[in-house]
Amino acid sequence: MSDERSASPPTALITGAASGIGSAFARSLAEEGYRLILVDRNGERLKATANALSADCEIMTADLIVDEDVAGVEQRCRDGIDLLVNNAGFGHPTGFLTTAVEAEIAMSRLHTETVLRLTLAALPSMIERGSGGVINIASVLGFFPSSTYSASKAWVINFSQSAARNTRPRNVAVTALCPGFTRTEFHDSAGMNMTKVPGFLWMEADAVVAVALRDWRKRKALSIPGWKNKTIVSLGRLLPLGLIGRMLSSADTRPQAP
Ligand SMILES: NC(=O)c1ccc[n+]([C@@H]2O[C@H](COP(=O)([O-])OP(=O)(O)OC[C@H]3O[C@@H](n4cnc5c(N)ncnc54)[C@H](OP(=O)(O)O)[C@@H]3O)[C@@H](O)[C@H]2O)c1
Repeated sequence: MSDERSASPPTALITGAASGIGSAFARSLAEEGYRLILVDRNGERLKATANALSADCEIMTADLIVDEDVAGVEQRCRDGIDLLVNNAGFGHPTGFLTTAVEAEIAMSRLHTETVLRLTLAALPSMIERGSGGVINIASVLGFFPSSTYSASKAWVINFSQSAARNTRPRNVAVTALCPGFTRTEFHDSAGMNMTKVPGFLWMEADAVVAVALRDWRKRKALSIPGWKNKTIVSLGRLLPLGLIGRMLSSADTRPQAP
């Protein structure tokens, strides 16, 4: 690490930074003195997020399913950052049998291809310096065969664990963060009806992020915030697939056809 670099504050690039878990990462890392690069597709909301932080912020308006927008963020990752948070994501209001294939491909791209591209762009300079890392936001659902959303998050978990194994010897930490129900705009944006989910299962985004940063610093490949989410994941590993399928159907949060 050069003298100039070690004297300057660390830099974190966060995708989906204008809302929910992404903006909670921005708040927490700003308090720690990080320099921030905030990425989202809505420039006005990004500006408002940056203005609310007392941190050195750069904003990048990018739609992370558009090839050239992703290429711009990739370049920013290659320039050298200390922490990449791949957080941007969304869900669908309908199951994959009734969702337009273009919408499925867009979600799959954002959750897998973009995460892959940005991670691979960020890692080489981190490995060269022997410091820094990546937090990829997956989900508790990534442990359950529930939907195309859960399938994409299962990929994030598996990929992050593989990356962690490969980069740990070079002192670079990669963590898959697996939140459960978290109070953000996620479910409203997807048009999901969450009234069946009991209140005690919900976590606040700031609490999720506190666990994520602690686990990343401990170099854990997997971060599951909260004992309730840990219990759900453990049960999911023990219960037969058929029973899990019936439980997931009864807890379906998608709007029902009239
Ligand atoms: N909330 C939960 O219960 C929960 C649980 C498990 C995992 N997660 C995961 O946590 C991550 C953050 O979600 P959240 O709960 O914080 O939801 P959120 O409040 O909706 O925030 C997601 C952010 O990602 C942005 N985004 C979506 N598509 C994008 C694109 N193509 N390009 C750039 N930015 C894009 C959104 O922008 P727009 O507002 O313009 O769409 C929004 O600012 C996601 O990966 C999600 O899958 C959430």
